[in-house]
Amino acid sequence: MAALAPWIVGNWKMNGLSSDLDEALAIAQGVAVGAHARVAICAPATLVHRLAGALHATRVEVGGEDCRAEESGAFTGDVSAEMLADAGAKLVILGHSERRAGYGESDALVCGKVEAALRAGLHPIVCVGETLEQRDAGEAVAVVTGQAMASLPAALAGERFAVAYEPVWAIGTGRTASTADIAQMHAAIRGVLVDKFGDAGAKISILYGGSVKPANAAEILATAEVGGALVGGASLKAADFLPIIEAAPPPAL
Ligand code: PGA
Repeated sequence: MAALAPWIVGNWKMNGLSSDLDEALAIAQGVAVGAHARVAICAPATLVHRLAGALHATRVEVGGEDCRAEESGAFTGDVSAEMLADAGAKLVILGHSERRAGYGESDALVCGKVEAALRAGLHPIVCVGETLEQRDAGEAVAVVTGQAMASLPAALAGERFAVAYEPVWAIGTGRTASTADIAQMHAAIRGVLVDKFGDAGAKISILYGGSVKPANAAEILATAEVGGALVGGASLKAADFLPIIEAAPPPAL
């Protein structure tokens, strides 16, 4: 079991305007004093700075949803890890399946982005996950452990980061993986982390993502090797996100 506080991280994706800052504030104000989780909202780049300002006196941290590997340069439309950190981000999601699929992001590219995040002092959340075709073909564990092996640079040794297991078929579909499937996959990812990082690999948080909602959060968060949740749709409203935050159990010793 993860020894650190469970991470409950919202992924707002391409949602959020100035008018949604109040919702983020409602989330921050609703987090109970005794809540066990490390809470963050990863938001569109346009909101990071204002969110970081609005939430700075709260326990909700702000993150980005992607970054480019380079620090600066002629990369029209892209955002660097340094820019996110400068805007007040503490974390960044990298290798989300919507980017792997939509922009052809390879493990090697994700690896470079993770190194960039470390360079900028951000805590990376590195996403891995299989498609339904891969699961049906019996390849899920091989695909996910392969992604984890190739997306996590050696530079992560000693750094604070998380891996998020997000089966592609469970994202935004209302379908969640069974707790048995989650436990099996998280154990396989744990194996990769221990292989790569030795004893420290035993303590790295492995988050589950894919249709986490108030009704299933407690069961998922109590599953072996689940060190938190990456939450998309249900992180957009305080009424949905707060019960998920409250469902986070105390860190295992
Ligand atoms: P979902 O998204 O909770 O809406 O399924 C999760 C994610 O993509 O991180």
